[in-house]
Amino acid sequence: MGSRRLSKASRASQDRVADANALAAETLGAVRTVQAYAREPYERGRFGAALDVAVATARRRIGAQAAVTAAAIVLVFGAIVLVLWSGAHDVVDGTMSAGTLGQFVLYALIGGGSIGALAEVWNELQRAAGGMGRIAELLDEQPQVAAPAQPVALPLPVRGEIRFEQVVFHYPERIDAPALEGFDLHVRPGETVALVGPSGAGKSTVLSLLLRFHDPQSGVVRIDGIDLRDTDPAQLREQVALVPQQPVLFAASAIDNIRYGRLQASDDDVRAAARAAEADGFIEALPQGYASELGERGSRLSGGQQQRVAIARALLKDAPVLLLDEATSALDAQSERAVQQALENLMHGRTTLVVAHRRQPPCCARTGSW
Ligand SMILES: Nc1ncnc2c1ncn2[C@@H]1O[C@H](COP(=O)(O)OP(=O)(O)O)[C@@H](O)[C@H]1O
Ligand SMILES: [Mg+2]
Repeated sequence: MGSRRLSKASRASQDRVADANALAAETLGAVRTVQAYAREPYERGRFGAALDVAVATARRRIGAQAAVTAAAIVLVFGAIVLVLWSGAHDVVDGTMSAGTLGQFVLYALIGGGSIGALAEVWNELQRAAGGMGRIAELLDEQPQVAAPAQPVALPLPVRGEIRFEQVVFHYPERIDAPALEGFDLHVRPGETVALVGPSGAGKSTVLSLLLRFHDPQSGVVRIDGIDLRDTDPAQLREQVALVPQQPVLFAASAIDNIRYGRLQASDDDVRAAARAAEADGFIEALPQGYASELGERGSRLSGGQQQRVAIARALLKDAPVLLLDEATSALDAQSERAVQQALENLMHGRTTLVVAHRRQPPCCARTGSW
């Protein structure tokens, strides 16, 4: 019976460790989204809670294991007692010396058992030491983008004036090929500016620099006149909402996926954002409506539906600066028009940078739209 409990406890313990690992993998895989929504403390908390559960189940497993070990010891010692018992008869008959028999059996078993247990503990220690080395390495890792010791506070909410001044930037893996070379841009507060260009031109990179995922090698990026390098990235990112080129959804319910934009948003706020993003209809049609799980990386939705959930999330954030990176590229013409209308309404009163995707050649692009 004890061993059944042990196998159940072992299973549970492995499952909880797997849960914590899956959460870590998912969060790391979506790291840009986590950063864009300044959710690092929230994700730390979630992972911490998952680890606490894993540790608690591991302790239960160890408890069960101890019980099984105790039972085994009782059995072994019972066997020794039996041997001693029959040995004692021999001794009484005078065919054996009691001390020799007893000591031999007892010491051999205790000694063997202890060495076995020690070897196991030694293995565990080695494993833990290996893990600690890796953890120490990670803790020593210096982020490339960090808050300065005395960050300049942004005026909250920001007015949303954006400036790129002679920005040169190349990705660390691409020293030879700069993504931006002497890039200048001035966007006035409340203005909407479209970035148009062939793929690989550096449009998404411009948005990444605004969120301070990277710092330029030379030149300056400013919001409201403040060099982004002087700001606290978390505070900056609170002021900017991004709809990324590739929507990043989590293995969570529809409502939680949208609420990631503003954790304290009410259900009504979430629904309003979903309606504006034309996502309300298909979410309601899911088996459990807003409570439906969207699957790993939102795999239970089509590309266009994922994109609308990502738009709803960004709308919910309600930030003064809005960045749309080909935000409607995966939508069919009809929902695209509806979502565009919603986004255009939303652009009023905020600075918006849109990376345009064009179905038509440049000559025929609609005006007032993108
Ligand atoms: N994470 C990255 N690491 C290395 N190179 C990248 C990365 N992202 C983009 N690039 C490169 O930077 C250039 C600009 O990319 P990007 O800004 O994504 O272009 P666009 O959005 O205009 O299509 C491209 O040459 C691309 O290959
Ligand atoms: Mg791009």
